[in-house]
Amino acid sequence: MSDLPLSAGGARSAPPPLADDEIHLWQLRADAGLGPRGVSALAHLHLGRLLSAYSGGGRPLAIARGPHGKPYAPEAGGIEFNVSHSGHHVLIAFARGQPLGVDLESVAGRRRAILTIAERFFAPDEAAALARLDGDRQHLAFLRLWTCKEAVLKAMGSGLHFGLDRLRFSLDADGQPRAVAQIVGDAGDPARWHLYRQEAAAETVAALAWNGPERRVRSLTIGTAAESPGGEAGPPATDRPLSTSTSA
Ligand SMILES: CC(C)(COP(=O)(O)OP(=O)(O)OC[C@H]1O[C@@H](n2cnc3c(N)ncnc32)[C@H](O)[C@@H]1OP(=O)(O)O)[C@@H](O)C(=O)NCCC(=O)NCCS
Repeated sequence: MSDLPLSAGGARSAPPPLADDEIHLWQLRADAGLGPRGVSALAHLHLGRLLSAYSGGGRPLAIARGPHGKPYAPEAGGIEFNVSHSGHHVLIAFARGQPLGVDLESVAGRRRAILTIAERFFAPDEAAALARLDGDRQHLAFLRLWTCKEAVLKAMGSGLHFGLDRLRFSLDADGQPRAVAQIVGDAGDPARWHLYRQEAAAETVAALAWNGPERRVRSLTIGTAAESPGGEAGPPATDRPLSTSTSA
């Protein structure tokens, strides 16, 4: 690991304290020369470092996997986390005692057959809303809905196994997801699902989701001054809560 180019994430300062009512959302942009395996290794390096700092032990912690692959740290004293990476971007979320999920997609990533995917895997009204859009607006709306769905499914730990159409979002007039409208099974009261969107410099679309009480979301950047205690106190302008949550 020590030969990884750490210029995008070499900072070694302790993270700010993680309050019980907070979620810390860490973003990292890896060096352009790093391939997918390198980005994944870098994400794990910082996950391990931040996890041991938050848990207070300062020692490396074992990571186990749930039935559908969700990683967790049994000895982290109730610190919950989730990771997503796409292209050169990484997002890692941490909270105390609150399972959560994150999903990140590069806007410049591979363009998919949006309507085919939506018609096959999304709820009918979601697919219809996307069909009314075109070009970049459709692409962005698709990424926003996709990341919201994946973030919820990752918070549950089920991943795509659950079924993307079993989770329906209410959408605004532009086809943007606003809140969880319906979720089948024992996935919790839709009203208790909180969504938070983060978009970095038009390069990425990302969503954070959790089912539980409201929490303040604090956006932080690995490898900059914002990593140090007392860094950025709130999300940038392009970050916002989507549901009835008042996270800020
Ligand atoms: C989890 C999943 C949604 C990841 O999607 P993705 O957009 O390709 O990847 P992301 O970068 O957003 O997330 C990957 C990270 O999520 C985490 N993760 C893996 N499985 C997870 C799960 N079930 N729940 C929550 N997080 C999970 C891991 O940290 C993983 O990174 P790592 O393997 O480097 O540790 C997807 O792989 C999945 O659904 N897996 C579950 C298996 C499954 O049900 N397969 C059926 C396919 S139809």
